[in-house]
Amino acid sequence: MKILIIGAGNVGAHIGYLMLFVDSIDEVLIYDIQKDILKGKVLDLSHAGGVLKKDIKFTVVEDLNEVEADIVVITAGVPRKEGMSRFDLLEVNTRILDQVIGGMNKRLIEESIFVIVSNPVDVLTYYFYNKTAIDRKRLIGMAGALDNGRFRYYLSKNIGSKITELESQVIGSHSKDMFCVFDNLGAEGRVELSKKETKEAGATIVSYYKGGSAYFAPAAGVKVFLDVILGNREETVSSVAILDGEYGYNNIAFGVPVEMSSKGIDKIIELDLDSSQKEELDRSIKGIKESLSFLKDKKILS
Ligand SMILES: NC(=O)c1ccc[n+]([C@@H]2O[C@H](COP(=O)([O-])OP(=O)(O)OC[C@H]3O[C@@H](n4cnc5c(N)ncnc54)[C@H](O)[C@@H]3O)[C@@H](O)[C@H]2O)c1
Repeated sequence: MKILIIGAGNVGAHIGYLMLFVDSIDEVLIYDIQKDILKGKVLDLSHAGGVLKKDIKFTVVEDLNEVEADIVVITAGVPRKEGMSRFDLLEVNTRILDQVIGGMNKRLIEESIFVIVSNPVDVLTYYFYNKTAIDRKRLIGMAGALDNGRFRYYLSKNIGSKITELESQVIGSHSKDMFCVFDNLGAEGRVELSKKETKEAGATIVSYYKGGSAYFAPAAGVKVFLDVILGNREETVSSVAILDGEYGYNNIAFGVPVEMSSKGIDKIIELDLDSSQKEELDRSIKGIKESLSFLKDKKILS
């Protein structure tokens, strides 16, 4: 099994490292425009394979046009910095995604499963879909696995339950408009606090790092996806997926619970939402549509 990681920054390099702990991976190919840093990280990861006694090959990709892979993870992009608006981030990262798409060979787009991580992930997942016309089943955006993991952490901290015993969901956009679903068991106040902390989690990390955003937990989110795709674990995960009528929406990328397999997304699970949750969902969709309109106004998206 070959994994290609595009973007060897904080998130990409940590995904590379976690690949040492995923069963059935033979080779991890990594591409970045910063060639020396890329070479250093690939060598460092190869050394880690030696230390941990893992027969996984790490390879520098010089030219994206020449590679083949089963799964492609895209983390190329600028992370959110303090003071950056979501539109600023969007404009820079659509340009970077254009370069990535332009550099890839047709076969890769036609055959591989793609995991988009670069932010704003819901909008960029749609952008990738729009520009490549990829089968929606092979296109997955990573956000819900991270947001739900954060929610589980805060619930565990605030309620006192074990992380392994909590059944929660986070769906919607990867922004303050995400919505967290949890049966509150009479602990409304603490659940509400957990939701608030989850929504602010990304910004909290940005405020501490001063010049970058989270990477350990996002990389862990990608590992969960890969483990599910490769059949190493069985669970429903929240992922950004292209909707085709699900939840009453079409032609938009949105965070929803999905079932995945080696072919990509097998099924989008439609949760039974009450009217206030439906309102939250509509608000979340509205935010994504605003970003898509911004791209259309700028003639970046047709
Ligand atoms: N979806 C999520 O939940 C989530 C979570 C964390 C970060 N992110 C996003 O992931 C992206 C990466 O974050 P990071 O912290 O690793 O950033 P980083 O700055 O550490 O790394 C980004 C890397 O992308 C590379 N790059 C830039 N343009 C490129 C191109 N055209 N081709 C190949 N590589 C290119 C850079 O050289 C750099 O190494 C950001 O957009 C960030 O917002 C998403």
